[in-house]
Amino acid sequence: APPATDTDRRVVVAAPRGYCAGVDRAVVTVEKALEQFGRPVYVRKQIVHNKHVVQTLEAKGAIFVDELDEVPSGELVIFSAHGVSPQVRAEAQARGLRTIDATCPLVTKVHHEAKRFAGQGLPILLIGHGGHEEVEGTTGEAPDSIVLVETPDDVDDVELPTGQPVAWLSQTTLSVDETAQTVGRLRDRFPQLVDPPSDDICYATQNRQDAVKQIAAHCDLMIVVGSRNSSNSVRLVEVALEAGAKAARRVDDASELDPAWLTEARNIGVTSGASVPERLVQGVLDRLVELGYPVAEEERLVDESLSFSLPPQLRPHDQRGR
Ligand code: F3S
Repeated sequence: APPATDTDRRVVVAAPRGYCAGVDRAVVTVEKALEQFGRPVYVRKQIVHNKHVVQTLEAKGAIFVDELDEVPSGELVIFSAHGVSPQVRAEAQARGLRTIDATCPLVTKVHHEAKRFAGQGLPILLIGHGGHEEVEGTTGEAPDSIVLVETPDDVDDVELPTGQPVAWLSQTTLSVDETAQTVGRLRDRFPQLVDPPSDDICYATQNRQDAVKQIAAHCDLMIVVGSRNSSNSVRLVEVALEAGAKAARRVDDASELDPAWLTEARNIGVTSGASVPERLVQGVLDRLVELGYPVAEEERLVDESLSFSLPPQLRPHDQRGR
């Protein structure tokens, strides 16, 4: 076959992609805390699950720690977008740490639901990934009531009486379709299943998956920009494959793009997870141009306009007198 020419090739970049309102708020929280309070500013866990974001904030003076015992008493610590359990808040208070909470409000919403269901005496089946920080935080709200369910098949192993009401909740960044399957199996096994008042999978996760589905079937290769520990980015790779992309790869940035992946690829899709700065996507698109692909066309599914106000310690009216 003759070599592909530019006119045979197409690059489509999905929209919405990249930063969600919760990530934007969390990143700005660290930046503003550094400006307002000066160094050092400690951050418990990665503020958002993106390597480049963490490196950029480190260069500005943020110090990332795994646990609070690494923060000297009296210092300022920011809780990451994924949320923390009440036990972590209590420890911070006991240690005399100053805290700013960058938990995404849509994660906090799930915490409230967990407390409410537990308060009603309902066991809670939490659909999510074991060990993920968000799951640890949410579970901490009602540790005696919550049972983790990771996959549709896990439903068969849940050891709860099936003839009484049980509630379900989920992590915010799961696959929409797989979660629907899991919930379907839960409803089969637990006919009195109680739904959360609104979806726990957030608007950003939903929109990024829907936008990928819209273009996947025409893609020989879908490139998802995002870090390996980013739940919603990894889900985008899975969703692309399920929606018909011939191949899908996750990269942290353009340097990880292997030209060998492109030999058979005429139609390329590009997207990014909710924790990914747009400059990293532009870097991938620029690299594709260098490799002989045309300038990308954007396919936008919906507009997003949500934004969250900053934590109270950082709002302008709170700065007076400091
Ligand atoms: Fe929040 Fe969803 Fe982003 S839970 S941090 S808006 S991915």
